[in-house]
Amino acid sequence: MRTPVGACFALATQVCAAQAPLHIPELLTGNEFNLLLQEGTNDFFPGQTVATYGYNGAQLGPTLELQRGSVVTLNVTNLLPDLTTTHWHGLHVPPEDDGGPHSLILPNTTWSPSFTVLDRASTFWYHPHGHGLTDYQVSMGAAGMIIVRDDAEAALALPRDYGVDDIPLILQAKAIMEGQIMLHTGLDSVILANGVRNAFKELPAQVVRLRCLNGASERTFNLGLSNNMPYHVIGTDGGLLSAPVQLTRMTLMPGERAELLLDLSGMEGEQVVLRSYASELPNGIIGSAAVGNGMATLDGYDQNALNGADFDLITFTVGAPTSEPIMSIPQTLVPTEPYAEAAATVTRTLELRPQNMGPMEMIEGPFLINDALMDMDVINLTVPLGSTEIWRIENNTPVAHPIHIHDIQFNVLDRNGLAPEPWETGWKDVVHVPPMGVVRVITRFDDFADAEMPYMYHCHLLMHEDEGMMGQFLVVDPNSVNETEPSEPSIALWPNPTQNGLVTLRAPNYVAGAYITVTDALGRALSPSIRQIAKDTWQIALEGIVPGAYVVSFIDPSGRAAVRTASLITQ
Ligand code: C2O
Ligand code: CU
Ligand code: CU
Repeated sequence: MRTPVGACFALATQVCAAQAPLHIPELLTGNEFNLLLQEGTNDFFPGQTVATYGYNGAQLGPTLELQRGSVVTLNVTNLLPDLTTTHWHGLHVPPEDDGGPHSLILPNTTWSPSFTVLDRASTFWYHPHGHGLTDYQVSMGAAGMIIVRDDAEAALALPRDYGVDDIPLILQAKAIMEGQIMLHTGLDSVILANGVRNAFKELPAQVVRLRCLNGASERTFNLGLSNNMPYHVIGTDGGLLSAPVQLTRMTLMPGERAELLLDLSGMEGEQVVLRSYASELPNGIIGSAAVGNGMATLDGYDQNALNGADFDLITFTVGAPTSEPIMSIPQTLVPTEPYAEAAATVTRTLELRPQNMGPMEMIEGPFLINDALMDMDVINLTVPLGSTEIWRIENNTPVAHPIHIHDIQFNVLDRNGLAPEPWETGWKDVVHVPPMGVVRVITRFDDFADAEMPYMYHCHLLMHEDEGMMGQFLVVDPNSVNETEPSEPSIALWPNPTQNGLVTLRAPNYVAGAYITVTDALGRALSPSIRQIAKDTWQIALEGIVPGAYVVSFIDPSGRAAVRTASLITQ
């Protein structure tokens, strides 16, 4: 069954019967947030129950409102039958709090990072980021929005009433076939706004703010309004622009966010549809009429009616204004002070190319960054703390890639030698790199030096990411390298005590050839069964073990810490 593309579009003033009210995710505020990542079900189509994932519910998750400058703790409990992580996309946090692929959350355990919110007011998001697991878990529904508020934003006359004139909009496309969410089919024909098909929302007849997030695995949206009325972009990934930019179209690639103001004053009783004008997308972008090189096209691509077609994202009906409406678009916002090109001391190139040059592989991947696929044990780049850098992203593939860098926000210097459009001159953490094109971005790595825990950079098309179009970088403090010996990496065991003799061991920074032993109090070796469940994680089963104290040793003959031990209690 396929989404009826634009089926309701002809009705001017009345909401089509098949439409459903937009779901507004619950808003959580304060300093401590509890997220339970769990399984659920959802009826995307009447009478068809589909298995989903969500945080604190069956699908998506609550919106987290964070105040800049506050210290927050986020408790993420994994109730899934699988490993996961949760990444705070766009937030400037230490690498161990970032929720990248090294911060595994095992089933039935809780991960509780705590950090200071340093970001400018903007729209961020959270989603799973386990190596090779991201597409599945995000497609199943695990994702939520983060709103950061600050004083500069609070001083502006902007809509700020969550769910009334300040609307979260998580835009996604999913493949739902035979009652299941499917990956990698090219048939992602179900369009969702906050998890709802054919969504509608009544908005007041005044200035309204839409926080658009492209949370799709691969589809780019080209945002426009059905009556072609202009809207104003006020913010991008990591902050507000210095002034609103009036547009009738903007492309939003997977991972990107944009805050739009819509002036609906005087429009009470009318209807306007937010659509994707994908017929206008340049070829090579997933969602455009053609991705390929004339010789091949992506699997299923030509069968998907959304590709190269214009389709509805959400219908807005305009109701009465609120009692204290915002009635005009501000002239100016927050000065952005972009990084100056002259300040950069380092230029690096990320070169994107297909791993194999067959006609299919050139458009489907896997894709390499600087000739490498992601390897959890390899640090690809080391950045000195405080360095201002230009990252030059050179795309030698016929496909457009949204490239994302963790830790920082950057400014776009140029694309194929041309200055970015005005809407793209603010703070960004995902950038559109066109087919066979070059984009240069500039940023500074000011905080959070860590000699061991890396940040990620990757393509935000989740299939590309999962297939290894990702690399790892360390931020290191050049002045502290000689002062402190690198700390001996320890091993972690949990649960400890263990009741059933099942225990998980994590040993970061080991090299191939390492092995695990378990001995009792008298030094006698046991013979547990050991199964590797992730790059640096093993499950140890000590069946029928006598309750008592044991020593687990992780022996890494060529590593920096040859023998690492931990005591284990069994009950
Ligand atoms: Cu939105 Cu590395 O991710
Ligand atoms: Cu991220
Ligand atoms: Cu890609």
